[in-house]
Amino acid sequence: MPLLTSRPSSTLTHISIVGAGAIGQLIFHQLSTAINPLQHRLNIITRASQSCTQQLTLTDLNHRQTTKMAMLVGKDEYAQQLPNTDLLIVCVKAYQVNNALQSLLPHLSPNCHILLLHNGMGPHLTVSAMLAGQSLSLGTTSQGALKQSAWHITQTGNGLTQLGPYSQPSTLPQPLQTMLLTAIPNSQWCSDILTMLWQKLAVNAAINPLTAIEQCQNGQLADKQYQADITTVVAELVSVAKAQHIELELNAVLDRVYQVIALTAQNYSSMHQDVHHQRLTEIDAINGFVVQMAKNHHIATPKNQLFVEQIKLLEQQYSPLISS
Ligand code: PAF
Repeated sequence: MPLLTSRPSSTLTHISIVGAGAIGQLIFHQLSTAINPLQHRLNIITRASQSCTQQLTLTDLNHRQTTKMAMLVGKDEYAQQLPNTDLLIVCVKAYQVNNALQSLLPHLSPNCHILLLHNGMGPHLTVSAMLAGQSLSLGTTSQGALKQSAWHITQTGNGLTQLGPYSQPSTLPQPLQTMLLTAIPNSQWCSDILTMLWQKLAVNAAINPLTAIEQCQNGQLADKQYQADITTVVAELVSVAKAQHIELELNAVLDRVYQVIALTAQNYSSMHQDVHHQRLTEIDAINGFVVQMAKNHHIATPKNQLFVEQIKLLEQQYSPLISS
């Protein structure tokens, strides 16, 4: 349903999504259902050289199929389209964020607001140093989506999405904030987004490497044999967070980890899928981020370090014919 009443085309609000992976496409479908085309322009920024239009299909949680037309902006139109962007939502993998923004930032206006939405943490530190006036929000989503084909996704879960300002106070204009929260189901605005990101990091730090190493579904981690590993990896993370002035309560975080394990019991984690398909994983932005921050504070994080090493070993064993 449209959110705002009409206004002249000169004051159109431009929203761009970077990354046409499963989550990028899901956010596109959700926003395109909520916005008023007379007031908003929504497009997807791609790395292709040429721009084109593309039909995008979503099979939702009720098995209903909807299709939307998307404008895919290629490099040929960056200089023309990007200066108009009011909100840039970055949905690429954590390890792609810096490169993606390096090629886009020179074209963005200083008034553009950037929202990073990826698993793990870390890119916000480099991105905030690269900005030329633009303001930054961060987010995390536990919505699930899988690609059926390049432009057809299936939604697999309706988890929580948390968004909030990295630059304090928030500089995301209120109508855009309202639009995001209306469009994305089960979403909330959190003024203390860093605490939320550390909590989600704990979930990923426990579930993702273990499911990739054990080649199992999330639900298998409820087995007692994994309890010590999960407790240790989360306890290490909690002490690093504390050194970063983020107060987390170990038992509360462990409860959340086991809740996610139960709620997503049938899922294969994103890292399990990455390893299965021999893709680069987000380990550097998950357990690797914990290890990196721990070094700054001279805190030992041997379990997180071990998970990083084990996942990197799996990546090294990929067939050169499949991995890119
Ligand atoms: O990365 C993932 O797979 C997800 O964030 C989560 C919550 C662990 C569920 O699989």
